[in-house]
Amino acid sequence: MFVYVYIFNQIIQSHLLLSSFASLATAFLILRFIRDSFKVDQFGWRHVLITGCDSGFGNLLARQLDAKGIPVIAGCLTEKGASDLSASTSSRLKTVLLNVADSASIKKAVEFVRAEVGQKGLWGLVNNAGISIPIGPVEWMKLDDLTKILDVNLLGVIDVTLQFLPLLKKAKGRVVNVASIFGRLSLVGGGYCLSKYGVEAFSDSLRRDMQDFGIKVSIIEPGFFKTAVTNAKTIEADLKRLWTRLPQDVKDTYGTTYMQEYAKSQDFSLRILCSADLSKVTNCMEHALTAYYPRTRYGAGWDAKFFWIPLSYLPSFMSDFVYKLPIPLK
Ligand SMILES: NC(=O)c1ccc[n+]([C@@H]2O[C@H](COP(=O)([O-])OP(=O)(O)OC[C@H]3O[C@@H](n4cnc5c(N)ncnc54)[C@H](OP(=O)(O)O)[C@@H]3O)[C@@H](O)[C@H]2O)c1
Repeated sequence: MFVYVYIFNQIIQSHLLLSSFASLATAFLILRFIRDSFKVDQFGWRHVLITGCDSGFGNLLARQLDAKGIPVIAGCLTEKGASDLSASTSSRLKTVLLNVADSASIKKAVEFVRAEVGQKGLWGLVNNAGISIPIGPVEWMKLDDLTKILDVNLLGVIDVTLQFLPLLKKAKGRVVNVASIFGRLSLVGGGYCLSKYGVEAFSDSLRRDMQDFGIKVSIIEPGFFKTAVTNAKTIEADLKRLWTRLPQDVKDTYGTTYMQEYAKSQDFSLRILCSADLSKVTNCMEHALTAYYPRTRYGAGWDAKFFWIPLSYLPSFMSDFVYKLPIPLK
């Protein structure tokens, strides 16, 4: 081990360019570590609203912030999700029924939150709610399949943000939008990638426009994690639905085994790619809400940081190759 470190040191020291680069990179990392460690205080009054708290990242974040004494208002899609969450958290955490694809439901949630936060306004809004299916070849989609996802993942994010902006401006608060590495690389067919590219664009415009009002906007870009949106069984069941309704002449162009092979390779990819440690994502969300200097973008998960995000900067033929890897040949 020491031999390797010694050799590595010798190489770096013998190359002026390499050693300057290594020093710069080290200085950058130290400075970023120091900058990241400054925290906002007085969380007693800083309320955070999170959408999609029935399960997954939203549910974990609600419990994580609650355990740290931060007043959380958890938006849940279902009564059951809300009561299960209330049962496992302190009485400080409040739940509100919130369907982000329904403007009237958002309006009711705004009234609820306004009454909770009073004159201080809303400190944090985490746009986390999302759905992923249908996922499959583009040709298998109908327009409704795309709008169903866009209504929740993109228009839902926009509607919720616009309706809560007056309360966020009062607190000079934070907006944390959950995008994905699929907001940088379109690696699946369907509305999911469209919606996440949209979340990236909306967040960038919002960040620039809200700077003068003291509102900070962060984007979370998770890699693959084991939650309901990556559940291979649900994705496969829906893929069968898409296949079954295809006209016979279109099915014939794919052949009889294509659907099964597609589902099998998707199941295999998700099994090897998905991490069970959801805290990698919720820790980024928590940092965006509590750090004095929140980052603009958080790549969450090793796969996002070291593979997907770097891949998104490389020429398209490389991501085309990766896209094709798990998909059966025609
Ligand atoms: N898991 C990943 O690998 C991954 C990667 C990148 C990004 N993301 C994003 O992370 C976010 C959270 O997803 P997750 O992975 O934690 O999956 P999840 O467990 O399915 O969480 C999504 C939550 O959103 C809720 N929801 C669905 N439609 C809604 C609506 N119309 N209004 C309000 N809430 C709604 C769901 O409620 P029900 O449970 O009642 O349906 C669920 O609680 C999503 O935006 C997703 O796109 C996930």
